[in-house]
Formats: sequence, C-alpha cells, structure tokens
Amino acid sequence: MRKVITYGTYDLFHEGHYKLLERAKALGDYLIVGVTTEHFDEARGKVNVVDPLLERIENVRKTGFADEIIVEDHEGQKIEDIQKYGVDVFVLGSDWRGHFDYLKKYCQVVYLDRTANVSSTMIRKEKFPIVRVGIVGTGRIAPRFVSEAKYVSGIEIECAYNPERESAEKFQKDENIPVYTEDLAGFLKQIDAIYIGSPNETHYRYAKTALEYGKHVLSEKPLAFTHNETMELYHMAKDKGLVLMEGIKTAYCPGFQQLMNVAKSGKIGEIKDVESCFTRLATIGSRERTDARYGGAFLEFAGYTLLPIFKIFGTNYQDVQIDSILGEDGIDLYTKIQLRYDDGMATAKMGVGVKSEGELVIAGTDGYILAPSPWWLTHKFDVRREDPSDIEHFEPAFQGDGLRYEISEFISKINGTGKKDYKLTEEESIAMSKIVELFMRKRNGE
Ligand code: CTP
Repeated sequence: MRKVITYGTYDLFHEGHYKLLERAKALGDYLIVGVTTEHFDEARGKVNVVDPLLERIENVRKTGFADEIIVEDHEGQKIEDIQKYGVDVFVLGSDWRGHFDYLKKYCQVVYLDRTANVSSTMIRKEKFPIVRVGIVGTGRIAPRFVSEAKYVSGIEIECAYNPERESAEKFQKDENIPVYTEDLAGFLKQIDAIYIGSPNETHYRYAKTALEYGKHVLSEKPLAFTHNETMELYHMAKDKGLVLMEGIKTAYCPGFQQLMNVAKSGKIGEIKDVESCFTRLATIGSRERTDARYGGAFLEFAGYTLLPIFKIFGTNYQDVQIDSILGEDGIDLYTKIQLRYDDGMATAKMGVGVKSEGELVIAGTDGYILAPSPWWLTHKFDVRREDPSDIEHFEPAFQGDGLRYEISEFISKINGTGKKDYKLTEEESIAMSKIVELFMRKRNGE
C-alpha cells in the first residue's frame, strides 16, 4: 500500500484545497491529511485563521479523499509522522517548492502545482472588507503598531493624527503614512477604526470622539482615569454596535493565556498569592519622570501588573492598598498595589525610577509558577514544586513584540469572527479603571 501525506490549514475551504487533496490521493492508495491547530498557526505567524479546527477537519473529511486525518501541532512533526505512519510520498502545493526537500531522506517529496487565483488569504479579503485604521498619536508606540500590523491580514493603516506638527511630520516622513494635524474630523472620516497611542490623558477624549463618529476603538491603557468614564465608553460602544478594546497587549499573547490556564488547571494546587512586577527605568527628563499629572510608574505599568491578578482571582477583591515612592513633583517612581481577596492575596509592583526583577510568581498549595522577565511577553515559564529538581518548563510560541496578537483580536472582533471576550473582558477593564481612579484621586490629593 502506497501511503501519501499532506498538510495544511484548510481555512475557508476552497477549490485549491479540493484539487490538491484529489491529486494527492491519486498519487497512492491511502491519504493522510494533517490539519494545523490554531496555536501551531499562530506560532508560525498565521494569526488570522477564521474557521475553528473542527470545522477545518470536517471540510477535509467531506471531500472523501482523506483516509485518515491527523492534527499538526508542532514544528518537526512531519518527520515524526512520516516515520510513524510509514509514509511513501509527502505532497504539498508548489508555493512550498524546495521548502521540504529535507524530507527526501525519509520519503518521496512531491510539489503539486497550485490552483491559480484562489487562496484562503484571498477569500478572507473578499469576505471581510479591509479595516481602515487610523493611528492617534505618532510618538513611540505608533511605529511599532505600523510594523506589527503588517503581520495581520485585513488591516490597512490609512492615516495618523497628532496635533503636534513636529511629531506628525517626522512620522509621516519615517512611515510614509498621511498625517492629519488639526483636522480630527477629517481624519476620522477616512477610517473605520482607530488605535489610540497618544499620551495617557488624551485616551478617553479620543475614544469618545471616535465612538461618536461610529468608529471602532483600540486604545492603549488606561482607557480613562475614572470608572464612570470607562463605563460610559463601553456603554457607547455597545449602543452603537462598535468594538472597544483596551490595549493591554499581554492579555492577547498566546503564551500568557497558556500560563493562566496552567495556573488555573490545579497543577499548583489552590492559588493563594500572585506577585507581579514590571519596572523600566525611564530616563531623567522623560515624560514618565517629568509629567507630574500623567507620568509615573502606575500609569505606565498598572495595566500589565494587575492583569494576571484579575485573571487569577477575579475582580471582586475585598480590599486594595496603593502605596508609592514619590520623586520630585510627586511623580511615583515606584508603586505597590496590594489586593486582598477572600482566600488569596496579590501584589503588583511597578517602577520607572526603581529597578527590580520583573517576575510573575503565582503561589499555590502544591507549588508555584515562575515567569521570568519579560513575563508580560510570556516567552517562558516554569511550574515548580517543593523538590527543587521538580521543574516543568514551558516555552510558548511568541512572535514579534506581541502587538500583532492584540491587533489580530481587534480585527477579528470587527469582522465578527472573534471569539468571546475572554482574553481581556469588559469587566476586567472596568475593574482596572476603578483602581486607576483611586490612584488618580490620591495623586490629586482628593
Ligand atoms: N493550495 C493549492 N492551491 C491553492 C491554495 C492552496 O494547491 N490555490 C494547497 C497548498 O499549497 C497546500 C494546501 O493547499 O498544499 C493547503 O494550503 P493552505 O495553506 O491551507 O491554503 P492557502 O489557501 O494557501 O492558505 P493561506 O492563503 O492562508 O496561505
């Protein structure tokens, strides 16, 4: 019996897939089809797959060509499968020509001509109109957004806005994207959605204006300084059927979600304590260290450090204490937030003028999880127990600087292909705003 194997994502199943499977089957007596998992696709940079795995498998099954369907979930699996299943022929479309020649050691490798003028990418583009995004703020984050958006399909960066002419002109020159300086209305009319990466104190105002204009909003944290303002934005978005997302990028990283799920799976027993720390020394004279009203460590990092705490213990804490080491002008160089829950406690530490180890430690009754710096990008973490040699190590996939996962989530929500809001819920975002308000009241001496 001549066994043939082929692999693919088979998203939005199309004629090209059908014809490839038909020809693959004709090359032998028994066809095995490997269908990729979402995580595997994410790890290799395909972040916009629409159909869930089971639907993609079902579509392959319905062709009647596959004698066996397997799931492909990791790098290096092809060599394993070929040996395990005793495969004679490995087949893939001609877009991969040469790429899998290393498999010739194990079996025959055949590249079949692709069917012209059809691909999942093309169908995605036709099915979901391109989302035209405008960027508010052309400072440090905006160029990163532009470069990370290139990895997400279905998005076009249309223009940017910054009332500060100098920064706008520099951005326009560097990124070659039209920039508006005075005309906010004109800017908003060009686009379907905005990304707000402007200074902290402007997020709420821009978000509100954009929602009024009927635009979807992805805003850097904090969305607003008060609980009421945050609620107002979410209500507006709901009333108008718009997407509103707070951009805490850690929440959207696949590795962070895995870390949370492992923590909650019972592996370390019952969780009793979460400690998260994020510090980055800001240069003297930087905005973070000079802006007495809107600079400082809290506004910079509280979104990240509170995230794992809310994810693990929820938003229903009994008590919260915020304490800071202040520098000149009352800017918090270092801030510690302590939360008490019914059956657990948590500490979030952050600094722009004090340096510490940026770790996330989740302590349970049977062991703990240690995610080293930069845990907010979650490249790796350990599950550790009493016996120091008992360490389970995890290295989840992570691409770029992580922003692409957040952008991809935003676009899929706009397209209606996103899943429920479990990565960062409205409730979590609103709960964070309560703590932001508490901090701001304290800062303002209220
Ligand atoms: N394929 C093909 N003809 C096409 C499209 C895909 O023969 N027009 C083949 C690919 O070469 C591969 C298999 O179908 O062997 C599965 O491809 P997959 O990557 O799932 O599909 P694409 O349409 O190429 O997906 P995308 O646009 O997301 O890259």
